[in-house]
Amino acid sequence: MCGIIGYIGDRNVAEVIVKGLKRLEYRGYDSAGIVTADRETVEIRKGAGRIDNLAERLGFLAMDGNRGIGHTRWATHGVPNDINAHPHKDCTGRIVLVHNGIIENFVELKGELLKRGHRFESDTDTEVIAHLIEEELKNSENFEEALRRALKRLKGSFALAIVYADEPDRLYVVRNESPLVLGIGKGEMFAASDVPAFLEYTKEAVFLDDGEYAVITKNSYVVKRINTGEIVEKPVHKITWTLEMAEKSGFPHFMLKEIHEQPSAVRDAIHGNREMVRSVAEEIAKYEKVIFVAMGTSYHAALVGKYLFQRLAKKVPLVEEASEFRYEFEDLVDENTLVIAITQSGETADTLAAMKLAKRKGARVLAIVNVVGSMATRIADLTLYTHAGPEIGVAATKTYTTQLTVLTMLAIETARALGSADEEYLRSLEKQLDSIPVLIEKALSHGEALKELAESLRDRRDFFYVGRGISFPTALEGALKLKEISYIHAEGLSAGELKHGPLALLEKGVPVVAIAPSGKTFDKMMGNIEEARARGAMIIALSDREEVGRISDVWIEMPELDELLTPIVYVVPLQLMAYHLAVLRGNDPDKPRNLAKSVTVE
Ligand code: F6R
Repeated sequence: MCGIIGYIGDRNVAEVIVKGLKRLEYRGYDSAGIVTADRETVEIRKGAGRIDNLAERLGFLAMDGNRGIGHTRWATHGVPNDINAHPHKDCTGRIVLVHNGIIENFVELKGELLKRGHRFESDTDTEVIAHLIEEELKNSENFEEALRRALKRLKGSFALAIVYADEPDRLYVVRNESPLVLGIGKGEMFAASDVPAFLEYTKEAVFLDDGEYAVITKNSYVVKRINTGEIVEKPVHKITWTLEMAEKSGFPHFMLKEIHEQPSAVRDAIHGNREMVRSVAEEIAKYEKVIFVAMGTSYHAALVGKYLFQRLAKKVPLVEEASEFRYEFEDLVDENTLVIAITQSGETADTLAAMKLAKRKGARVLAIVNVVGSMATRIADLTLYTHAGPEIGVAATKTYTTQLTVLTMLAIETARALGSADEEYLRSLEKQLDSIPVLIEKALSHGEALKELAESLRDRRDFFYVGRGISFPTALEGALKLKEISYIHAEGLSAGELKHGPLALLEKGVPVVAIAPSGKTFDKMMGNIEEARARGAMIIALSDREEVGRISDVWIEMPELDELLTPIVYVVPLQLMAYHLAVLRGNDPDKPRNLAKSVTVE
């Protein structure tokens, strides 16, 4: 889980790389490093810490050259320290590279290279790659051949950017199971783990696929297959995201900005899918066995999807964490199965593995993804995009509500295809869905009140979030948001479970966040709120109903809406509450400890 960037051209190389790395910090931020090179020199500066601090401490911007590569790290092999920071080099110091991913067979390769006299400086798997290329160079006609030979020996995931000192007009970049995209400029070329790294300079992008590498010079790029060396013609994508979309737009944190972008993100999700959703729903309707796979917040979206499909399409999909599915479902999927993978990044290792398993077993695979060109979109038979735009904050917000939007549209169309719900009702749902952006605006207007509430709660140690039916996943998501950014212990529960154990934990003043919209189980929720209140819990209730307000310590009034659509709106105050608690407790909500935006390792 790291970010890499490469640049060749006439701009100030170090500046392009430092800026790019800052935009990739969401991929990891425990250490960073840069190499710049020209005809004579190759200079490496690297260390543990955040890019801004390192840039000052190590004087990144004083580095010079016609090309360079950079890395922002999230440690996998070797603790975060100055030595393990990338770039890494071979014995000669002429092959220098940065890496995102994990080399599974590095211990074996390192043993072999040690025997051949190589000496290593770091504990990383990455350093092995530089030495392996050096070794292969002895038996190859040129560097490119050596690179290909070395790459063929690597097992695992790797995106690489490589400087070879003896070839001053070029950089090499590689992709295998870790993202890598080229930015095509005029008289300059970029390569990075993600588009925002170079969006300031070019909007033309070429996405590499697994098993491909590219040779880039100032004025050209050529993509080839690792295995055969054969040239691959790649389409050039026009990126429509503006840089402003990828920056903070005046908010103190990306997360807050992204929470506020939800009205337009949901609108885009609706507009972006109206055309596609019908034909996809017709496919879904054909399958008896439908399984959602996802992780984390996307898993919560899948749970909402399950309720939607049950209630509207009268289908009972399974929902599995991808990390479980990949080991438990080998014999349970076949060509009669439809697997729906939900992943905002499209790069989550477990979700990709689940998708690959499903494909291997002949299942049809649909992906609901935010990142265009990500791996999930290439594995899937069909992809629906959530159109949320880039999400830099590690905690998913707008990617979640847009996932819910797409799932709602899919469930409505599937119900229509199956004739399983009254057409008038489906139309009224569609109409209400169109009004959701406005309702989210209203939910956002609770911002100040939620900040005050957060002030009164900042020292609490445990929170419980409860909901029933389609509000149960909202409870899970509210609890996850709080845990991951405020570091306060929180549990999400189906309210019916309360009296089967968790009630024992409720005592005076413990906050219980009740998700209680009008709907099928409203009366039962009222009972659950009373139950918690009787134990002295502090009730914070989200509801459209005043009677809930009367029995709660804090009532967050929500708009009236069909119960099936409430998850998209009700999660918003929960995101805001978690955000304010995180900030009040001195945490950086954009970069929670121990977490990274895309989990590209198991
Ligand atoms: C939490 C969060 C994570 C992700 C999970 C899956 O805020 O963002 O739980 O949802 O890591 O990521 P994707 O959706 O990229 O597969």
